[in-house]
Amino acid sequence: MTDALVFDAYGTLFNVHSVLARCEQFWPGKGAQLSQLWRAKQLEYTWQRSLMRRYLPFSQLTKDALEYACEFLQLPLEEKQTELLMRQYLDLETFPDVPAALRALKGHKLAILTNGSPDMIGPLVANRGMEMSFDAVLSVDALQVFKPAPQVYELAVTSLKTPRERIGFVSSNCWDALGAKCYGFTVYWINRAGAPVDRLGFQPDKIVTGLNEILP
Ligand code: LAC
Repeated sequence: MTDALVFDAYGTLFNVHSVLARCEQFWPGKGAQLSQLWRAKQLEYTWQRSLMRRYLPFSQLTKDALEYACEFLQLPLEEKQTELLMRQYLDLETFPDVPAALRALKGHKLAILTNGSPDMIGPLVANRGMEMSFDAVLSVDALQVFKPAPQVYELAVTSLKTPRERIGFVSSNCWDALGAKCYGFTVYWINRAGAPVDRLGFQPDKIVTGLNEILP
């Protein structure tokens, strides 16, 4: 076991596809497609804006990605719908294995390290009653660059005052897991979907299907 465990947020602790039901309600038959494209674009914008050095907070990119995805799928999007869907992002469900895992890890140094801007991740953690579960909630917003930039992972080292060799990093986003591995963390990739490992020149230290498999 490492000295600290650092978790990715969206897709790892919180299910971004919790928005699906509401999307389906607004645009019957298109919910799943919209939810997928929305998430894909949201991530693309993080990488593109980091390369362009035109950082904007994740909340803005999430809204931009929603508008793009709706336009691409030719779904009319009213301001009220944007507001409701964005509000739902502050209330995403946790994956079923999360509460028990956090209870079992009580007493360990735990943190979240996320692309999410404080205006998104703060309310989400609070709404899920998880503030007391973590020693720190770290956002890339402090650095104005997104994952997998190495300085993002370094933020965990400096904030937790723990050397990189002693940090375990947990993500279900393979590219994020490999970014953390490239930086020097011990990495657990939660492969919930049974996907292949990304070809980025690194391998996770452990591939698991749920958080229960990383417990001490
Ligand atoms: C995050 C993105 C990767 O939470 O989902 O950082």
